Amino acid sequence: MLTKSREFWNILITVPRKSILHDLLVHDLGGPLSILTTDIDNLLRKEHRYGKLTEEQKRVLERALRNAKKAQSLLSEMVEALKSEEGRFEISYFSVNEVLKETLKEVLDIYAPDLAERLMKCEGEEEFKRNLEEASIFVSIQGKYATENFPHDRRKVVHVMRNLFSNALKYRRSKVQISVSGDSDLLLCVEDDGPGIPKKKTESVFKRFARIGLKNEGCIEGLGFGLSCVKALLDSVKGEIKIQSEEGRGTKFLVRIPPLK
Ligand SMILES: Nc1ncnc2c1ncn2[C@@H]1O[C@H](COP(=O)(O)OP(=O)(O)OP(=O)(O)O)[C@@H](O)[C@H]1O
Ligand SMILES: [Mg+2]
Repeated sequence: MLTKSREFWNILITVPRKSILHDLLVHDLGGPLSILTTDIDNLLRKEHRYGKLTEEQKRVLERALRNAKKAQSLLSEMVEALKSEEGRFEISYFSVNEVLKETLKEVLDIYAPDLAERLMKCEGEEEFKRNLEEASIFVSIQGKYATENFPHDRRKVVHVMRNLFSNALKYRRSKVQISVSGDSDLLLCVEDDGPGIPKKKTESVFKRFARIGLKNEGCIEGLGFGLSCVKALLDSVKGEIKIQSEEGRGTKFLVRIPPLK
């Protein structure tokens, strides 16, 4: 951890400001948050070791855990946004299907923890799909990346998926459809049947801290930060994002990500 020694001030002078912010976020906030989530998780899952909890205590700890995870996910959004603004990428070849499943589980852990728990225990692809479909979440992967790995910065793809999945799950009335396709660029489509986004607002949702003022928006948590980060990130990798929406009928986010080679 950095202390305000001579060394600290030297670093401050020589390293770009954003890199310092990134390192401070990762080390000084990421570490404690990860201890917090692991400890609460242990209290909930290892009653044989830490003692039996009452239903009331469980509810309080579950809420604390959900919020700690939200803070963790916001922190990772900020770190990825900083890294992409600086043009920092870590390229690898990865399975889009695996990344999609992991990210979906992570998001569901916040919005539908019971389903996330069931998904963790699923053995095969079929069982995983069946559990999702019972919750009206439909996933399809076609095209080149159904079988071949995609060369990109894995964290950036997770970041895009995480935001679009969490919006779709927050705003859907009942259904979410996620499709992956593409034979060179990766195409991702995330569709929900929620309130939709009026045409004149489709640009403003990408502005930092913008919320479009839906009727029941006050009841849905959000900072209006996620999509602005997704847009900045996609701009930095020459990708794009489009919205197709009809008020009252739902929203479709279409993303194109060129491979990084
Ligand atoms: N699928 C959607 N259906 C309807 N409105 C949406 C949808 N996705 C985004 N919006 C609107 O766009 C705004 C910006 O979305 P964004 O993801 O940036 O912020 P958020 O979800 O409110 O908060 P967070 O920073 O936690 O992501 C939302 O507040 C909402 O008004
Ligand atoms: Mg969001």
